[in-house]
Amino acid sequence: MAKIIRVGTLISGGGTNLQAIIDSTAAGAPGKIDAKILFTGSDTPGVKGLERARTAGIHTFVVDYARIIRACKKGIDDADLPSDFNLGEILEKQQLVTSDGVTSPDRIEFFLKSRAIAEKMLLDHILAHEIDLLVLAGFMRVLTPYFIDRLNRIPGQYRIMNIHPALLPSFPGTDGYGDTFRYGCKVGGCTVHFVDYGEDTGPIIGQKAFDIEPGDTLADVKRKGLEKEWELYPACIQQFAESV
Ligand code: GRF
Repeated sequence: MAKIIRVGTLISGGGTNLQAIIDSTAAGAPGKIDAKILFTGSDTPGVKGLERARTAGIHTFVVDYARIIRACKKGIDDADLPSDFNLGEILEKQQLVTSDGVTSPDRIEFFLKSRAIAEKMLLDHILAHEIDLLVLAGFMRVLTPYFIDRLNRIPGQYRIMNIHPALLPSFPGTDGYGDTFRYGCKVGGCTVHFVDYGEDTGPIIGQKAFDIEPGDTLADVKRKGLEKEWELYPACIQQFAESV
């Protein structure tokens, strides 16, 4: 048996992946994984996933991104930024937005600063716990190097996992199943990967695929995909547990 790893989770919505992970940690669960969930954080208040966590007796917290970003739009003072925030360093590392002539440097700066303010609040909650792994279970925010470097303290040792609703490297971004469906793919799938400085670019841990039959709707694709996600995510967390 692997050691029991300590897992933190972040969500944004319904939390069906979170539920699958919670269920797989229960004693006697088929395919029981060697993990204990210490907390569930959300970027959005009032979502169903928070209720799922509370029902399972898991500590929860909310960092309300929408409210923070609204406040930042009124202006960001240097004093609002985390004391260890270094814009030059983050600009050099980040691979989320590019100066392509479309996105102005001011917008990129606003993006990185406003996210670091929110990420510092996430970190204040997260780093109060000793965790081995942070699991993004339908967390619909990208994370900047400011956040990532404070979790991945040993270079090359990834400690943040994400699930993506497509067979990466195809269809990164927020609507993997929608993009798969609209492209006319005959196979869809999901990917669990480690988080690096890009969007959906980190090393792949596991993938599962499903057939898209003639007549399948987008809703069918999403349902088939989620069913695969619920199997894949616990299996990938277990793989991590066995590797540490
Ligand atoms: C999943 O499809 C996941 O791949 C994506 O967001 C969705 C979250 O669903 N990142 P849920 O909140 O786990 O039900």
